[in-house]
Amino acid sequence: MAVPFFTQAVSFDRRWPVTRQHIVEVMDNGKYSHGRKVVELENALAAYTGSLFAVGVNSGTDALVLLLRACGLRPGDEVVVPAFSFIATASSVVLASGRPVFADIEADGYGIDPASIEAVAGERTRFVMPVHLFHRLADLTGVLEVSGRLGLTVVEDSAEAIGMRHDGVHAGLFGAGGVLSFFPTKTLGALGDAGAVITNDERIAETVGALRHHGRFGRTIDHFPGISTATGMPGVNSKMDDIQAAVLLAKLSTLDDDIARRAELAARYTSLLKDLPGIRKLPRDGVVYYVYVIEADERDGLATHLAACGVGTEIYYPVPLHLQPCFADLGHVPGDFPNAEAACKYTLALPLYPDMSTSDVDRVCEAIRAYYAGRP
Ligand SMILES: Cc1ncc(COP(=O)(O)O)c(C=O)c1O
Repeated sequence: MAVPFFTQAVSFDRRWPVTRQHIVEVMDNGKYSHGRKVVELENALAAYTGSLFAVGVNSGTDALVLLLRACGLRPGDEVVVPAFSFIATASSVVLASGRPVFADIEADGYGIDPASIEAVAGERTRFVMPVHLFHRLADLTGVLEVSGRLGLTVVEDSAEAIGMRHDGVHAGLFGAGGVLSFFPTKTLGALGDAGAVITNDERIAETVGALRHHGRFGRTIDHFPGISTATGMPGVNSKMDDIQAAVLLAKLSTLDDDIARRAELAARYTSLLKDLPGIRKLPRDGVVYYVYVIEADERDGLATHLAACGVGTEIYYPVPLHLQPCFADLGHVPGDFPNAEAACKYTLALPLYPDMSTSDVDRVCEAIRAYYAGRP
């Protein structure tokens, strides 16, 4: 039987009675965008993450752009970002009219290397954006130490990190603020695009709240003279859709169970794949398994073989950010960030979602074992 990389059909069926109730409330109150369900979700997200404020927007990408703006990024300001991440980590900086400056990731993990931040930061650098990828947080102790010393504001790309905490503090709340993505495949996924900013800073929350809604403050549209001069940016339309908020509220109520199930499945993968020839690296010290990413020899051959066996995989991420064509003007060449480049060469994400059965995991591992069988 095939094991798709991702599906939420079963969990949607299981949750339908609760989801339906939330959707009926949206229909009854008659406001389908930026309405009461969105406020209910924002309150629930603030309670879940322990943030003072959560502001719902249209996507994790918009959340990053508006958060950077609300933190006072001015045109041309530099933001240090890891060279290994989803494109939105760096494109959000450009969309906010800043300039990304790439840093390498750590050799033994996927988080930004604090020493590399120090090496690349210059006079115009004002921000650093650690990203919490896959299953664990970046080295926040190191990042906060360097950023404090260099006077950089920390804005976290915690798009993948709902549920990840360090010493009881949720991802996104270690600096000025962070973001959540509710893209369908995420640990808390909607049935379309949605995202949020989380922060403990009232001014930032208020500014993001205005910028997402054409610069509307309260009931009047004044296009934020105060804010637009501070940020150089008029508001946008990034309101959250109430139907997505309804879906997310239903899922949030069982999120911790889903996270626990993800951990069980990840542990099963690890027990079956450890010591397997061909597997270079398995995830370690997982906090919340958003995806289960291995590093494999002949990664592309393995992915093709798994596809032929009916097993879906994804490559997160095939090209490092510094070598993306859209950043060619920054003048990077292969070899600039070797750890990021190695991660792009070897990483492969295996199917992982709460509705998977243990035998699905076994099937994936058998197919992997078969690929490497007989190889030296
Ligand atoms: C690390 C990272 N940053 C940013 C984003 C952007 O989020 P979205 O797809 O909701 O715009 C994502 C998700 O796709 C992500 O994984």
